Amino acid sequence: MMVMKKKACMAFLIRKLLPFVLVLAVLENHQVGARFVVEKGSITVLSPLDMRSKKDGAIGNFGVPDYGASMLGSVLYPDKGSNGCAAFEGDKPFKSKFPRPTILLLDRGECYFALKVWNGQQAGAAAVLVADSIDEPLITMDSPEESTDSDGYVEKIGIPSALIEKSFGDSLKQALEKKEDVVIRLDWRESVPHPDQRVEYEFWTNSNDECGIRCDEQMNFVKSFKGHAQILERGGYTQFTPHYITWYCPQAFILSNQCKSQCINNGRYCAPDPDREFGVGYEGKDVVLENLRQLCVHRVANVSNRSWVWWDYVTDFHIRCSMKEKKYDKKCAEDVLKSLSKYYSMVFLFGTFYSNSVSNGNNPIESDLPIDDIEKCMGDPKADVENEVLKTEQLLQVGRGSRGDVTILPTLVINNIQYRGKLDRTAVLKAICAGFKETSDPPICLSGDIETNECAEHNGGCWQDLQSNITACKDTFRGRVCECPAVKGVQYRGDGYTSCVAYGSARCSINNGGCWSETRDEVTFSACSESLLSGCSCPNGFRGNGQKCEDINECKDHLACQCDGCSCKNTWGSYECKCKGNLLYIKEQDACIERNGSRFSWFLTFLILAAVAGAGIAGYIFYKYRLRSYMDSEIMAIMSQYMPLDNNHNNRVQTEAEPLRQGSV
Ligand SMILES: *[C@@H]1O[C@H](CO)[C@@H](O)[C@H](O)[C@H]1NC(C)=O
Ligand SMILES: *[C@@H]1O[C@H](CO)[C@@H](O)[C@H](O)[C@H]1NC(C)=O
Ligand SMILES: *[C@@H]1O[C@H](CO)[C@@H](O)[C@H](O)[C@H]1NC(C)=O
Repeated sequence: MMVMKKKACMAFLIRKLLPFVLVLAVLENHQVGARFVVEKGSITVLSPLDMRSKKDGAIGNFGVPDYGASMLGSVLYPDKGSNGCAAFEGDKPFKSKFPRPTILLLDRGECYFALKVWNGQQAGAAAVLVADSIDEPLITMDSPEESTDSDGYVEKIGIPSALIEKSFGDSLKQALEKKEDVVIRLDWRESVPHPDQRVEYEFWTNSNDECGIRCDEQMNFVKSFKGHAQILERGGYTQFTPHYITWYCPQAFILSNQCKSQCINNGRYCAPDPDREFGVGYEGKDVVLENLRQLCVHRVANVSNRSWVWWDYVTDFHIRCSMKEKKYDKKCAEDVLKSLSKYYSMVFLFGTFYSNSVSNGNNPIESDLPIDDIEKCMGDPKADVENEVLKTEQLLQVGRGSRGDVTILPTLVINNIQYRGKLDRTAVLKAICAGFKETSDPPICLSGDIETNECAEHNGGCWQDLQSNITACKDTFRGRVCECPAVKGVQYRGDGYTSCVAYGSARCSINNGGCWSETRDEVTFSACSESLLSGCSCPNGFRGNGQKCEDINECKDHLACQCDGCSCKNTWGSYECKCKGNLLYIKEQDACIERNGSRFSWFLTFLILAAVAGAGIAGYIFYKYRLRSYMDSEIMAIMSQYMPLDNNHNNRVQTEAEPLRQGSV
């Protein structure tokens, strides 16, 4: 079945893309047909317990696979319309209740895969699994080639989808029949390899703008992704390489008019006629030449480490030189190059973003997209020789290792894995971001552009302070994380799930640090203090845990104003005490004293008292000193009567003990 599908697909490709005789380069190397690689994500059954297992799901080639992330959900298999080909009745009947989103299980068959997924999305499913209808290896669900009957729904699919094997689908259905809650995790974290800090990606495209929906899709992507691509490239986060598919003309037909009009370098590099009519409008070789020029723009710019110039050139060329306006030619291309060179040297003159080149000692005016270098790179299209650039492209079309052949445009390859999903700015950025080694994501990967919005529902289960509208929930492309935030310079600390507490001296400025505060009659009391780095404590006159404080009734609690005859009146945060008679209440001592005029006289009294006390102490010290001298000399006098003392001593004693010795000799 798989082989049949491949063959059918190749036949289709050849019919559609290769009018007449062109042969895709890969066919030369693979006799049987191109190799397709099915990109997978893993599906883990978590509940019921007896079904615990890990399976593969083939990532659908439309919608938005959650590259780099995972999704936990409950499986639902609809009672009616399980093939998902008709819209489900009701208003989002499968919209889930928190905490688990609904993963809708549908059966393969009877309509396009993309239509099933669209109907599932419309009914509120967060992801769709399609169970295969026969036993076979997994295949990639693709979007319908002709979207004439599709009212553009394919573009509007924004959920992930995967095809699962029939046996796995059957076991899920059996468990659901037994009314079990089947919980699974869809995981795309390993779907893009993420070995290091740089992501290599390539985009296989075409300069042709008249191939209808597929060409429009590519150009719209290039235009909308340009900004992201250039930021990533300039920051050195990615290495991007554009690629172009070419075909070759079989030997026997080289001299035919078809090959002459579709090929350059004597039938070596060809492209299908854009309008599929020979002799009218542009020919295949015009497309090959422009493709080659775009490759050379990239090569030449890459030499001076400015490969991102390709994005500017390609978008400008598309706008200024379209086939529709009959401007798809060399002259227009060179005008675009000239104005880009001018623009770059202007930017250089104003010195904004060329500091890099200047410090390298290059002359950016000369090395900027020199048309001569690009001509040289393109070579002579009429010559019967290989073109090194296009030859390399043809070799790269052939898959190697785990990688499939490139046969369909557009093809995006990220870290050597083919991207699945729609070619949409946000979806592609998500996949590229999943290619960085964890924790080395460039800032752009964490910007609002590719956030999930898991925080929107129940705050993602993270801590939240409703009053100040501060949350620990942060949407990232890898899913939500609960992390205590930093708000206005105040860092919150905690587990992020159940608690976050403001820390630091500035914390009182936000929601009063989460502490109690109340204002009455223009007087404010607060339990947050800048002197404490964390926590709350009720101010004097209040008691409580700091989150809640209440006034202490000092009167009732007999804490103050208990003096005889005093009258106590509680106030908010304090109390008033009145002494009986003419006495004055001194709050510090909680006592009443004689009222004695003004505050100043109290101060004077205090001063006098202090002076008296000071004099007393000084007198006492003096007295003690005198007493001690007196005692000393008396002892000396007594001792000198019993033992001979030297003269000195005698003298000293005599002098000092004068009063004592009076009248004794
Ligand atoms: C671009 O330049 C880098 C080195 O700066 C090199 O590794 C890479 O192969 C070049 N790409 C192409 C397509 O020449
Ligand atoms: C370009 O970048 C590579 C690697 O980052 C470096 O080795 C090379 O010297 C650079 N070339 C120019 C012209 O700056
Ligand atoms: C909380 O803040 C977010 C964004 O910061 C805003 O969208 C939301 O309306 C705010 N909610 C309230 C209750 O203020």
